[in-house]
Amino acid sequence: MMANKVSFMMQRWSRKKTHFPLLVILLLAFIVFTVLHNERTILQIHEGEDHVHHHREASVTYVKPNRLNPSQDVLDRFSKCNSTRGYSGRRIARVDRSPSSGQRRMASEKCDVFSGEWVFDNASYPLYNEPDCPYMSDQLACHKHGRSDLGYQYRRWQPHNCNLKRWNVTEMWEKLRGKRLMFVGDSLNRGQWISMVCLLQAVIPPNKRTMSPNAPLTIFRAEEYNATVEFLWAPLLAESNSDDPVNHRLDERIIRPDSVLKHASQWEHADILVFNSYLWWRQGPVKLLWSAEDNGVCEELDGLGAMELAMGTWADWVASKVDPLKKRVFFVTMSPTHFWSREWEPGSEGNCFGQKTPIDLESYWGSGSDLPTMRMVNKILSQLSSKVSVINITQLSEYRKDGHPSIYRKFWETLRPEQLSNPASYSDCIHWCLPGVPDWQGRPLSLFPLDWNYLFFLILTLDS
Ligand SMILES: *[C@@H]1O[C@H](CO)[C@@H](O)[C@H](O)[C@H]1NC(C)=O
Ligand SMILES: *[C@@H]1O[C@H](CO)[C@@H](O)[C@H](O)[C@H]1NC(C)=O
Ligand SMILES: *[C@@H]1O[C@H](CO)[C@@H](O)[C@H](O)[C@H]1NC(C)=O
Ligand SMILES: *[C@@H]1O[C@H](CO)[C@@H](O)[C@H](O)[C@H]1NC(C)=O
Ligand SMILES: *[C@@H]1O[C@H](CO)[C@@H](O)[C@H](O)[C@H]1NC(C)=O
Repeated sequence: MMANKVSFMMQRWSRKKTHFPLLVILLLAFIVFTVLHNERTILQIHEGEDHVHHHREASVTYVKPNRLNPSQDVLDRFSKCNSTRGYSGRRIARVDRSPSSGQRRMASEKCDVFSGEWVFDNASYPLYNEPDCPYMSDQLACHKHGRSDLGYQYRRWQPHNCNLKRWNVTEMWEKLRGKRLMFVGDSLNRGQWISMVCLLQAVIPPNKRTMSPNAPLTIFRAEEYNATVEFLWAPLLAESNSDDPVNHRLDERIIRPDSVLKHASQWEHADILVFNSYLWWRQGPVKLLWSAEDNGVCEELDGLGAMELAMGTWADWVASKVDPLKKRVFFVTMSPTHFWSREWEPGSEGNCFGQKTPIDLESYWGSGSDLPTMRMVNKILSQLSSKVSVINITQLSEYRKDGHPSIYRKFWETLRPEQLSNPASYSDCIHWCLPGVPDWQGRPLSLFPLDWNYLFFLILTLDS
């Protein structure tokens, strides 16, 4: 950077040389002085440049992602690696930066809807009743599964500097008319999808709505609006051996780091896309099976590194295929977990089990929300800023230690007596009860202007 500045100044001097000879001499003397006395800085500059141009990292190969290779086997839950070696250092070729959108920055300066607090509001919350939603999941129906403290349902998100509009279901349906809204990701985004379906379905008569069976792509359809609200199971965004929503393996995850095409064929025609991905990268190393590998030879890489590859491949698809005038794309940031009560109450030994109120410590941040992941995601999303809007739920969800199912959900495996005698030991501190935290996520989202206009997003979202 400094080097650039210097050469820029030199050009100017050579033009103005005749007018300011003394000044030029003085400045040149200053530069010589700087060079001689600041070798360390200069060295750093050169190192920085080397890094950018990869002169030194001769071993780095850049892979162009999302190339169709019809002869290639699609990964499924039976896929295996023939052998596994260390990570080769291959990276995803960077997407072209989309021109940054000044409009968006302007809008977000007006009010950060993601900065605020949870206030008790039993007058307007919950936005629907658990038993009234036929699409409720047994994983999230906490009241049905024995939770008796219902304070978690009576919380409204209140941004510090503005008010969100009230939820209006007919308004939302009008915006969705003739459109496909699709959530893509893992079980956290499935929770957000169920929340959205529960919020929306109440006004549709039972004979005018359908829900397709659980499949990688599950579709809720409202006939009179010719609209769908869909969920695509793709926990790792990239193609993987875990793309079956029921039979998947968390322990040996194999991804195709350079392709999202399998999923993209399902999501490419959606009008509004809401992506997430995080927790599936947090369980130890991931196996990479690059498209160019013909012999099933995998590489192994840590979760963060693998997620960066998959996000890069996803970003490549967004950058090359999304026309922001025709499609809205959102990315939901990481969803926090509450496994260690000592993080919000030093000295205690529990987790989310038995927690009945939110954390009221401003900016509380637990160890479940990984900062290096946040930085990596920020970096990738900033390159897509004109095409992807961030739904930054991390901070607001951090406060909600009371919002998880803990033991009040259906568990698929039989619980052992020693587990039953220690409820904290099998508590689910990852997902969110419904009605509950994810309903917030549906609320402002519903108010994004679906006429594709960034600038008016907050104007429409805010109460005047
Ligand atoms: C709301 O909560 C207040 C205070 O706990 C209580 O007095 C009131 O009856 C509640 N209202 C409803 C509608 O549940
Ligand atoms: C919701 O929006 C519709 C259409 O804009 C309006 O007619 C209706 O009164 C609103 N309902 C509520 C409860 O605000
Ligand atoms: C229904 O919506 C789809 C897009 O999702 C559109 O292609 C189709 O023309 C619509 N049908 C009617 C009858 O409006
Ligand atoms: C594994 O190796 C065998 C024999 O070399 C080959 O036939 C098979 O296709 C390989 N598996 C994959 C997934 O490429
Ligand atoms: C989300 O919010 C957190 C703090 O609340 C911030 O550190 C982070 O950079 C934000 N991420 C994105 C992608 O905007």
